Amino acid sequence: MRIVVLVSGAGSNLQAVIDSVSSGALQVEIAAVGADRPGTGGVQRSADAGIDTFVVNFADYPNRADWNTALTQAVAFYQPDYVVSSGFMRIVGEEFLDSFPNRYLNTHPALLPSFPGAHGVRDALAYGVKVTGCTVMIADAGVDTGPILAQQAVEVLDDDTEDSLHERIKVLERRLLIETLASLAERADHATR
Ligand code: GRF
Repeated sequence: MRIVVLVSGAGSNLQAVIDSVSSGALQVEIAAVGADRPGTGGVQRSADAGIDTFVVNFADYPNRADWNTALTQAVAFYQPDYVVSSGFMRIVGEEFLDSFPNRYLNTHPALLPSFPGAHGVRDALAYGVKVTGCTVMIADAGVDTGPILAQQAVEVLDDDTEDSLHERIKVLERRLLIETLASLAERADHATR
């Protein structure tokens, strides 16, 4: 199973995927890692690991549609079975979703449908929930609205800050993403036998 991973940030979740692939625990091929802006830690980590990288810089395009077309082409070049958003902080358009139907995975640091959007951890903390968590889903055209594949709960502690809570969530988010990819890879393997 070939995957392309999209990142916008530090890429610590991506690093966990890279490590699982290198150790043989996760049987997928990371065909490439792409970002929506230059200088991300995620692209740097991938280049260090010898993985192909690309940047489709949102700021370089006159409008979202043109950027979306360029992103779709850059990803399609690698012919992935799945595209994984690992902290990719952009909504992709129809052209992208139609090119990878039901094959665009996303993770979110909250228990959807609660607290969608860019500040899932902050919003959960501000609301005062006692339990939050993480979600792996198939992304669709909405903001964190696609079908849910897996979820894990995380307790909110009295002295949690956004950072401390996010770090604990990310430990489980990584595990959940890797487990989900492993089960999709196993299914793909069975289907080709
Ligand atoms: C994850 O919690 C992701 O769900 C959120 O940002 C975090 C990604 O962090 N949108 P990193 O780039 O993998 O370190």
